[in-house]
Amino acid sequence: MARAEELRALIAYHNDRYHRLDDPEISDGEFDDLVRELRSIETDHPDLVVPGSPTSTVGAASSALFAPVAHRVPMMSLDNAFSREELQAWADRLAKQIAANTAFVCELKIDGLAISLTYRGGRFVQAATRGDGRTGEDVTPNVATIADIPERLRSTVDPPPELIEVRGEVYMPVSAFNDLNRRQAEAGERLFVNPRNSAAGSLRQKDSSVTASRSLSFWAYQVGELEVARSSTSAGGQDNRSNGLGPTHSSTLEWLGKAGFPVNPERELVHGLDEVLDFCRQAEDGRHDLNYEIDGVVVKVDDLALQRQLGSTSRAPRWAIAYKFPPEERTTELRDISVSIGRTGKATPFAMLSPVFVGGSTVSLATLHNEDQVRAKDVRPGDTVVVRKAGDVIPEVVGPVLAVGAGDRRRRRRAAWKFPTECPSCGAPLVRLPGESDTFCTNLDCPGQRVQRIAHFASRSAMDIEGLGEQRVQLFADLGLLNDVADLYTFTAGTLDGLEGFGPLSIANLLGAIDDSRSRPLHRVLIGLGIRHLGQVGSIALARSKGDIDAIISADEESLAVVDGVGPVIAASVVRWLASAVNRSVVERLRSAGVNLTEPSGAVSTTDAKRPQTLAGKSVVVTGTLEGWTREEAEEAILARGGKSPGSVSKKTFALVVGESPGAAKVTKAEQLGVPVLEGTAFGRLLESGELPGPD
Ligand code: IVH
Repeated sequence: MARAEELRALIAYHNDRYHRLDDPEISDGEFDDLVRELRSIETDHPDLVVPGSPTSTVGAASSALFAPVAHRVPMMSLDNAFSREELQAWADRLAKQIAANTAFVCELKIDGLAISLTYRGGRFVQAATRGDGRTGEDVTPNVATIADIPERLRSTVDPPPELIEVRGEVYMPVSAFNDLNRRQAEAGERLFVNPRNSAAGSLRQKDSSVTASRSLSFWAYQVGELEVARSSTSAGGQDNRSNGLGPTHSSTLEWLGKAGFPVNPERELVHGLDEVLDFCRQAEDGRHDLNYEIDGVVVKVDDLALQRQLGSTSRAPRWAIAYKFPPEERTTELRDISVSIGRTGKATPFAMLSPVFVGGSTVSLATLHNEDQVRAKDVRPGDTVVVRKAGDVIPEVVGPVLAVGAGDRRRRRRAAWKFPTECPSCGAPLVRLPGESDTFCTNLDCPGQRVQRIAHFASRSAMDIEGLGEQRVQLFADLGLLNDVADLYTFTAGTLDGLEGFGPLSIANLLGAIDDSRSRPLHRVLIGLGIRHLGQVGSIALARSKGDIDAIISADEESLAVVDGVGPVIAASVVRWLASAVNRSVVERLRSAGVNLTEPSGAVSTTDAKRPQTLAGKSVVVTGTLEGWTREEAEEAILARGGKSPGSVSKKTFALVVGESPGAAKVTKAEQLGVPVLEGTAFGRLLESGELPGPD
């Protein structure tokens, strides 16, 4: 009983912060956890259910800022399913009343805020928030600024209903959110935490010109009240076969589209639960390819008569359910902020977090990018912060959750964090040049930088020395065995023997991997040397056009700058790097250690002849092993023809080439997005012609 009471109080508090104050203190995931816990207590102990429990109510009461609007048809919430099993359980409950192949509409669950729009005689007259489901807030002037929302219904639906209440979600597109935060950062203002919060904050403004400046959008997904000539009812309350909207939810959505409302195209009419599950899976896979955030899928019974028959609880309809994706945002404690030194000396602040499971993995470190970002996010050690990990993106601290005005919840924050003035690795001064956002350690001998440089040399994109990661490099550097990349090639079994963690097998493996790296093509060595501005594309271009290291050493700046893919900035940087006696001695020691410093010409690379740019501007993704090609060779062959070869499939992908043991996720995604999938054997022809094979 005590825990149920505590949970009710907590949920009410967080509901209010989210719905009325637009300033949540916990992530949606944590909130859902609280509700789930309360619901399970109430299920086990029905005697503990009290009227008005948050498990049976909607949203939060309105704020006094706006005039109240009564919803004559209540604006309900949705029950959630957090797993396929819970979705199945919902379907099983319905199964007693519906046929096995019942039609469902699957829609995306847009992460914005619910809005009710009233049209009289086809004209927009009022907009209201959901509030507690019975009374919302009048936000008409603000909503009137949203370009997506029609002022009048289109004449395609003439005569318009006397009154129609269209419901849907106001949201902020991700691109608009990023632009807004860029402007906030430039103005030295606090950043918004996510698109949902900034949409809610932008809509609930006293001054509608603020809303107008915020690029909000809208998707319509439901009809509330509906009055056609001489009859007043709700869409869910009477047979609306005669009102032009049709007898199903899908026909209603079609009508809304015809009337001029944006209706999300990513919806599907499906039959039976298997198809529902397929839709959910696809939606989850593709969630980051959209320019708006979604947090799940809403599944609705299509037949409106059946919806009426199934009815609602006090809080949510029985004929619909929200399948929620696993959360990508969580709150956790920011233990401290530290600075790491990269191979170029760049000092990057990062957050040390109480470990938190988010976006599919446990996160305890997250980048904070640079000094300005720490300031804009205003995160301080000791704060509770929102951590976000979306898809393959590296984890990020979004911002603090501040309990402004929350009475005894307000905690004294620690002082704002200050960027250190000295390198944490070598103690040299850290310098930030005027007009630049990054801060650097200026000491070339800095051990921190050295470790990063060597780890970069050994990394997959460079010399690909398996088993030599940052930790081992650090260990060898600490032991004085490794001062620069050339030292690697002096390693023998004797060097490693007796070191903790090195048995005979791991010694043999590491020495073998180092030895293998001797035969990498020159461009990999160039990448590995970490010459400023010289990345993969420039390294390949330089290696191909000059053929070997001596030709690069003896070339002057002009002749390097004219190489396609190089240019004056890289050329100057290469010349400067090679002018250093220390660097030149590294190159000579690599040479004497037997490291290859030439670029082989052959199937993939030629030294001079320029390849026809058959794939110019096209992006080709390779998955699995292609016969006769290593992964690197295949990627280089695409680059050499003007194409790109990113690691993941998107709508923009020209083709996915599938070899032996491909990544299943890539293939599924390509199929979903309609990206052509080619067999590995077609790769050669694709390179040659830049065209997809015909339908033979
Ligand atoms: S239908 C009675 N459809 O989710 C059913 N809601 O958790 C009313 N939402 O308040 C809602 N996308 O703000 C529906 N395609 C969609 C939706 C959607 C987002 C929101 C809406 C609702 C909340 C419930």
